[in-house]
Amino acid sequence: MHPSELRKYGGTVLATLAVLILIRFAYVAIFEPRNLTRPVYILEGLVVATPPGGAPLPPEPLPDWSAVLPRANLEDGSMLSRQCIGCHDLSAAMKTVFGPALHGVIGRARASVPGYDYSTAMRANRTPWTLDALFEYLRNPQLYVPGTKMSFAGLPDAQQRIELLAYLRSSSK
Ligand code: HEC
Repeated sequence: MHPSELRKYGGTVLATLAVLILIRFAYVAIFEPRNLTRPVYILEGLVVATPPGGAPLPPEPLPDWSAVLPRANLEDGSMLSRQCIGCHDLSAAMKTVFGPALHGVIGRARASVPGYDYSTAMRANRTPWTLDALFEYLRNPQLYVPGTKMSFAGLPDAQQRIELLAYLRSSSK
């Protein structure tokens, strides 16, 4: 092959490579989502939604209530309950704030406060709120009752939920 021919072919190969590299860049920029380093939550008003198709929460053992309740710190539970009182009346007055009254909620049938306008999701099930059910619900309300209008992200810490439930139980008596 003549050297000028070699240059011509070499140039064509280089140009083709350059075009391929550009196409690849454009493809990555347009179609490939950036790798997220942490979970992303979509905020719709106050609602903290879990990402669609998001990883389920890792399984968690249910507490042995007869062992953990007597040891729970009720003062910590009372502090934690402040996260609820913006939306819930915890007193025996049973007032509707934004959410239904929670006095006596342990053992009460789900969605059963008379006159409260529950979501369809909450009304779909009337099984009583056992300690186990509340423990799981409060971990992530939107995962436990998909579609609930309770816009509260949840308490990931199991010990905090134990303390809160011990407090709700003691203050409902
Ligand atoms: C931003 C407001 C808001 C906060 C904060 C909130 N809730 Fe709620 N909660 C609601 C609403 C609204 C409902 C009704 C849900 C539905 O109908 O889907 C509800 C429902 C519930 C229910 C079901 C009651 C029933 O009668 O079946 C429980 C239990 C509950 N909340 C517990 C709690 C606890 C405990 C906390 C604090 C850790 C809390 N919520 C914080 C708004 C809230």
